[in-house]
Amino acid sequence: MIDVLAAATSRNTRSTVDFLTTTHEVLESIIDQINDGIVITSPEGTISYYNHIVRDLFGLGEDKPIKQLKDLCQINWSKRLARAAIDSGGDYGTAIASDRAIHFEEKIHAGDTIRFLQFTIKRLFSQNRQHEIRVIVIRDISAKRRLEATLQSGGTCGLITGSPEMLKVLDRARQIAASDASIMLQGESGTGKSCVARLIHKHSPRRSYPLIEVNCAAVPETLMESEFFGHTKGAFTGAHDQRQGKFQAADHGTLFLDEIGELPLHLQAKILHAIEDRRFQMLGSNETLNVNFRLISASNVNLRDAIDSNQFRADLYYRIAVIPMNIPPLRDRIGDVPLLVNHFCDDLVARGHKDNIRITKGAWQTLLNYPWPGNIRELNNAVEYGVICSDEGVVDVDSLPQDIRLYSRDTLVAKTPAMAIAADIDGPAGDAELRSQQLELTNALEKAHGSKALAAQILGIDRTTLWRRMQKAGLAG
Ligand SMILES: Nc1ncnc2c1ncn2[C@@H]1O[C@H](COP(=O)(O)OP(=O)(O)OP(=O)(O)O)[C@@H](O)[C@H]1O
Ligand SMILES: [Mg+2]
Repeated sequence: MIDVLAAATSRNTRSTVDFLTTTHEVLESIIDQINDGIVITSPEGTISYYNHIVRDLFGLGEDKPIKQLKDLCQINWSKRLARAAIDSGGDYGTAIASDRAIHFEEKIHAGDTIRFLQFTIKRLFSQNRQHEIRVIVIRDISAKRRLEATLQSGGTCGLITGSPEMLKVLDRARQIAASDASIMLQGESGTGKSCVARLIHKHSPRRSYPLIEVNCAAVPETLMESEFFGHTKGAFTGAHDQRQGKFQAADHGTLFLDEIGELPLHLQAKILHAIEDRRFQMLGSNETLNVNFRLISASNVNLRDAIDSNQFRADLYYRIAVIPMNIPPLRDRIGDVPLLVNHFCDDLVARGHKDNIRITKGAWQTLLNYPWPGNIRELNNAVEYGVICSDEGVVDVDSLPQDIRLYSRDTLVAKTPAMAIAADIDGPAGDAELRSQQLELTNALEKAHGSKALAAQILGIDRTTLWRRMQKAGLAG
């Protein structure tokens, strides 16, 4: 590189032709150092130049010819350009006729890897506009997209379900989001209570204010009061500064008290007053603070049982459970398993895993047969474990976590309808929705002991709709 530059600066001693050749070499050498792919094509798509990184970006080995745009990837270039032009506000004709750069993004398969590439296409003309070339700059934005996917899967809780019962819960959640009523979410661990709480906040008028989450089981009992109400400087040994509590932090927003059943009785009384009056005092202060928050609570223990055994105050329960909602366990919505497995596989691919995941029939049988005591969290972990332990992306029974494998070995004796469906599938991808519907139907029929009228009632549909769905799912006859 330095030699080339030195050659370029000593141009006085060289002919013009030499100089132009050298300039060309300098430019080429600079372009090869850039991390973006650069391709020059004719308007018809014949490539006259590309830099080194282009082969890496598209996962093309040295033996693959790169002569036409279609040699790079399976994009329908003219269609994609038209769509990009329309997306950017113009129509294709005017956008393509103007000198404006066109941008679009594409998810491509580079060998076994999925890449997210951003394309910028600009037309360049000779001085008399007789000749035209197109310069395409290609930037790899996979890292950015994967980070977004990771943040999204943790943060916004894209809730996936096809279960009528769960869909009702979500409809209800959206419907009551607008009110200020206190909500109590009850359900086993890992069923999605925290996700539903976030969904409610996101759909509420308070969404531009904070959602403050407190896991009551994770706060040491001695620190609970100051965690909730805050403290002044010197309020107790070790209180070096004044500190705001969660109640105050949630002002104008939503306060989410997770695992509220874990609150010790003496604190339940204090919390009751603070919730009732929306007023409290910081530890070490006489000043009363007013707050305005919406309360959502969650518990994975049955609080009515806790009331009966004097572990939970009935008056607090009625205050926080104005709208009680039950989140069904995954074993009661087994039709969600294929949808969730697919979703978690997509999520892994979006976070950088190779797009070659396949699940064997045996593994599907095992996943559908297991009762999922840890619910969706456990299924998510099992999918991630299975994919990591898979053989070249093929998830077999042996790739699954031991608990699930052993359960399956001990119980796979009688064929349930769900298992009969599992025996027909090999996936994932594509037909997950059909699979989910089949499982939902067989599950309802199983619960209804074969009575179609009762199954229709369980699903909240009429008998004709049930019959139509059974036909569509290949279950009628
Ligand atoms: N319907 C769903 N679709 C996709 N992911 C889900 C769904 N429900 C739950 N999850 C995922 O499962 C995990 C557990 O969900 P969440 O934390 O909301 O459960 P929880 O009921 O609050 O559990 P815990 O009682 O332990 O607090 C999370 O990673 C969440 O993103
Ligand atoms: Mg939770």
